[in-house]
Amino acid sequence: MSSSRFAPTSAVDRLVLPLDVPTVDDARALVSATKGTVGVYKIGMELQFAGGLEFARELAADGHKIFLDVKLHDIDNTITQAVRNVAKMGMTFMTIHAYPKTMRAAVKAITEDGVEDLCLLGVTVLTSMSEGDLLDAGYKGPISDVVEDRAKDARACGMGGIVCAATESASMRKVLGDELVIVTPGIRPTGSAAGDQQRIMTPADAIIAGSDYLVVGRPISKADNPRKAAEAIVQEIEAAL
Ligand code: C5P
Repeated sequence: MSSSRFAPTSAVDRLVLPLDVPTVDDARALVSATKGTVGVYKIGMELQFAGGLEFARELAADGHKIFLDVKLHDIDNTITQAVRNVAKMGMTFMTIHAYPKTMRAAVKAITEDGVEDLCLLGVTVLTSMSEGDLLDAGYKGPISDVVEDRAKDARACGMGGIVCAATESASMRKVLGDELVIVTPGIRPTGSAAGDQQRIMTPADAIIAGSDYLVVGRPISKADNPRKAAEAIVQEIEAAL
């Protein structure tokens, strides 16, 4: 587990629920159905393009921890200015693609403005990518090598943490030490559908492997009872700690 100031302090804290739904009304319903059983709500691209940024501000103002999953990658000036504005929105986490130049531009905003409460996360390799997908994109190494290089770059650039598959958490914890937080999507409780995720793990195994935060989406949002599904995952996390 990480010793960073962004490290979770309880089992509930560790559960991140993506609000991957089409409308703010749907997101509002999911938040009220899961209130108190989830530590962080993640707002990704689907909702961002449907009023999700205003909703993110509203949730943060209500005291929720919000993870803005923007996966930024652009020229330095645009990245620095974008991170400045996200920090002003009261977000707790945000994602940047783990290219060194992009991460340096993001960290510049944090250090120049003295921002202390926004954790920048470097996205190493998306958990939906297989070795074949990486080859198609022009990367020769096995996924584990690319993830390791990007994790080292994230640390060198001064990022707050990384996003990687739980199957990579144990080796990334060795590479990173306990300075950075490790956030892992692709979590599937036993018996739930993998969907488009490729490198999956159960919540308990992910915790044992060294993940700090677990992003669990469809197994909660598509469950008949999202609150019960979230509570069961928190219990599994608690038992693994
Ligand atoms: O529904 P599911 O549990 O697969 O949702 C995973 C969430 O984590 C999605 O919001 C997805 O965009 C996000 N994510 C991911 N892999 C990454 C980074 C983010 O699956 N490497």
